[in-house]
Amino acid sequence: MDQEYGLLDTDEAPPGDEWEEIDYTDTEADRIARERDREFDEFRKRIKDADQFKVEASVFDDATYGALYKLVQDGHLDAFGGPISTGKEANVYTALAGDREARRGSEQPSGDGEEPRGHEVAVKIYRINASDFTEMGEYLEGDPRFERIGNDKKAIVMAWVRKEFANLRRALEAGVRVPEPVAVERNVLVMEYLGTAEGRAKRLAEVHVENPGTAYEVVREYMTRLYDAGIVHGDLSEYNIVVQESQLYIIDVGQAVTVHHPNSEEFLERDCYNVANFFARQGVDTSEDDLLAYIHEHAAPLEE
Ligand SMILES: Nc1ncnc2c1ncn2[C@@H]1O[C@H](COP(=O)(O)OP(=O)(O)O)[C@@H](O)[C@H]1O
Ligand SMILES: [Mg+2]
Repeated sequence: MDQEYGLLDTDEAPPGDEWEEIDYTDTEADRIARERDREFDEFRKRIKDADQFKVEASVFDDATYGALYKLVQDGHLDAFGGPISTGKEANVYTALAGDREARRGSEQPSGDGEEPRGHEVAVKIYRINASDFTEMGEYLEGDPRFERIGNDKKAIVMAWVRKEFANLRRALEAGVRVPEPVAVERNVLVMEYLGTAEGRAKRLAEVHVENPGTAYEVVREYMTRLYDAGIVHGDLSEYNIVVQESQLYIIDVGQAVTVHHPNSEEFLERDCYNVANFFARQGVDTSEDDLLAYIHEHAAPLEE
């Protein structure tokens, strides 16, 4: 009798490339900005003049307005809210979800013929012309697939944003709490907003951690699940973990790499160092080595 020793098929998709093949040369957002019809011009002026955008928006190029315009037209965004964060490479704002997302978000259509009210979403806008991309360098360098992109800033940012979107998806699929990705357009990422009427969800670094032992176990489990799915966050610390309604969420996954990245182990070690040290300061009996050993023991990232 024939005996075949095959491996079972798994449902899990292998980790994708760090850098997918896309055409970076021209986008719908670039075309909108170039053609500048009257409606786009009015949109751009309205956003530029809005109080909450005054300072930061001066650094956006026209195609960024093109991307925002496209997201509004596609029904992902409606009105813009205020800034949540101004970082080195990106700014994060709140916005009201457009019709499409509002409908998706409301389980029950409101009874008396009202339009569904838009919930908030978070909009992360990368500045193409941010002067400093050195922080991105270590994640880009050493990845042979990145050589295709070279040092074209727009291409780097577009690839980065798409990778962030894809990483959010992968993390969710792996059972890790992250903001749900909504849409991506050129240098703009729309995702679930974590926060309440009082404001954005607080970072772990900003709160009094009630049960550090439990919180540590949750973060350790998330790191393990990510690694098991073939992903290393690469910038994990108490600044990229937020607390929302007693739940921990991992954020800022743009730089996350697959286990194929030549520096992925180094990034994992650094994540372990940051996380273990934070929780050790909160009285948890752990160390970088403990955390790393735990993850390696409990995760088996796919090799293929
Ligand atoms: N989806 C979100 N919901 C609520 N706040 C967010 C969200 N994403 C980011 N933030 C806030 O914006 C800050 C910066 O976002 P992050 O993705 O960490 O970008 P950066 O690369 O600038 O660190 C975060 O520390 C967090 O406070
Ligand atoms: Mg961050």
